[in-house]
Amino acid sequence: MNLPSQTTVLQVSDTHLSPDFAAGTEMWTAAVRYIEKTRPDLVIHTGDVVHDDPDCDRDHEFAAFQMRRLSTPWRIVPGNHDIGDSPPDPFRGLVSAERLERFRRYFGADRWSVVIGGWQLIGLNSLLFDNHLAAEEAEQWGWLEERLREADGRPVGVFMHKPPAINSLDEDLHVNKSIGLTSRGRLRALVEAGAVRLIGSGHLHEHVVLYSQGYSHGALLVGAPALGPLPAGTATWNLGLRCNGLVEYRFLGDTVRVRLLREADFRPA
Ligand SMILES: [Fe+2]
Ligand SMILES: [Fe+2]
Repeated sequence: MNLPSQTTVLQVSDTHLSPDFAAGTEMWTAAVRYIEKTRPDLVIHTGDVVHDDPDCDRDHEFAAFQMRRLSTPWRIVPGNHDIGDSPPDPFRGLVSAERLERFRRYFGADRWSVVIGGWQLIGLNSLLFDNHLAAEEAEQWGWLEERLREADGRPVGVFMHKPPAINSLDEDLHVNKSIGLTSRGRLRALVEAGAVRLIGSGHLHEHVVLYSQGYSHGALLVGAPALGPLPAGTATWNLGLRCNGLVEYRFLGDTVRVRLLREADFRPA
């Protein structure tokens, strides 16, 4: 019996790369070797590719070079360390036009759409949500509506840096760890309408998988851990599992299976 082939997407997040952070580059090199060996159909980086400072050209240049070590197709969305933060309590200040331009210069567009394995995967710049660059935010929402119309019944997965919520799409908690309430409500409406089935994010540096029941079609919410490096043996449970890792998605028809790859799974001893 011939089984239909699966499409594999690998999510990597929060690599925090810099020429001054050798341990982070070693973890990235381990991930590159795993990717080159296993050849996923697509690699998605969900942001904080740059070590710390959104204004550091040297780190952006280094991180962009590191991304180009991949010979597989890849896409990236920006994190707060790449382009600045969103309220409340923005770390190293808010996103700005200058910072956006820097990201686009080094990494390309900060939003994208890919049709793969019967799914439409859409990357969004989550730092624009509920922030002060109103025209940029409005443009992105309009662009998303167009992409969803194009999906025409295809299941849609969204990838972005900040998670849409901490525990549930209907919570009214707004902290720096997630997007703001207005944007969460708009995304929740898309989930309730069945337009979005999967939301993958980073930023928390913890692996979290939530199935939000009670919506018309339900949405799988997946938080990827940081690639690392946490010292060996220091994984802890907090909101989710704080560990070094990658997340593998296998798409088959309208289903998706999600698997956490911990350091031992992708980095041989
Ligand atoms: Fe991060
Ligand atoms: Fe972050």
